[in-house]
Amino acid sequence: MNNLVFPILRLLADGRFHSGEDIARQFSVTRASVWNAIQAAEALGVEIFSVRGRGYRLPEPLHLLNEQAVMLALGDRQARFKLELFDSIESTNSYLMQQAALGVPHGTVVAALLQTKGRGRRGRSWQSAFGASLTFSLLWRFQMGASALSGLSLAAGLALVRTLHQYGLRSAQLKWPNDILVRERKLAGILIELHGDMDGPSAAVIGIGLNLRLPAATRGQIDQPVTDMASHLPVEINPNDILGQLLNHLAQVLDEFEQSGFAAMREEWQSHHAFQGETVKLLFPDGREQYGNVEGIADDGVLLVRNEHGIQRFSSGEISVRGMN
Ligand code: BTN
Repeated sequence: MNNLVFPILRLLADGRFHSGEDIARQFSVTRASVWNAIQAAEALGVEIFSVRGRGYRLPEPLHLLNEQAVMLALGDRQARFKLELFDSIESTNSYLMQQAALGVPHGTVVAALLQTKGRGRRGRSWQSAFGASLTFSLLWRFQMGASALSGLSLAAGLALVRTLHQYGLRSAQLKWPNDILVRERKLAGILIELHGDMDGPSAAVIGIGLNLRLPAATRGQIDQPVTDMASHLPVEINPNDILGQLLNHLAQVLDEFEQSGFAAMREEWQSHHAFQGETVKLLFPDGREQYGNVEGIADDGVLLVRNEHGIQRFSSGEISVRGMN
């Protein structure tokens, strides 16, 4: 990776023109090095306008993640988190899983401006682009074993919905087990990976990808209906503020989960459930399909579906759910 790419992108984040000469002077490099870095940024999918005589600029100003601003947004809960911010990384989840095994502390947060190999659930990839999404992972250590953590991913989804509602995005809903939808289009996803014993102490890496402002090219790479915050909110989108608020909500929900399990938040979760009471199509990994009526979620986070055999329980590994519209 070209070392100048991210320093230059930070400079261009103001949305104004910067001449190649000024940039070269600022970083004490040649104009050719600046040009190379701009090419490298474009190869990463960043759109940069280049106008002869004026220089380079981004299509619009961008707020970029920075540690101080996130800490400010965290307010009183600052001490509960330790933030590590990367310009570019393959996957914040993969990195934090490795770090978890090395013993990094509870509350470690790894965020990145760009993920080059973002991972989704069920072995899928998670597409994002520079400035387009908030991508981060949080390490949470539990005294209880991994077997007691069923429902954790639903709890994390609830923290995300609480945050989005706080921003005025009241149409954000949960799709079991933990996708966030707005009008049936995916706004955010959560990937939880566990580390530790089934009955001893355990740790969860909670990875969240939230679409902020997706360029058309990135949308084109995603094989399902997607949306982003910018399409629904008239306000400026500041990832530092969103990350701070989201971590606050996560801390609250995870404390609640540790004390009382998912059962304590089940009602609230169901009140935001996109398919509560509706008929859905269930897809099994072997390609089979089944229809059923969603009764709700059980205390341990499994999906309850009524069909001709009565009420059936499904865990997240077993099926994926599609609405009927
Ligand atoms: C899904 O909906 O399939 C889950 C998507 C999770 C994406 C996030 S982005 C930050 C973290 N790092 C990853 O590689 N994946 C998660």
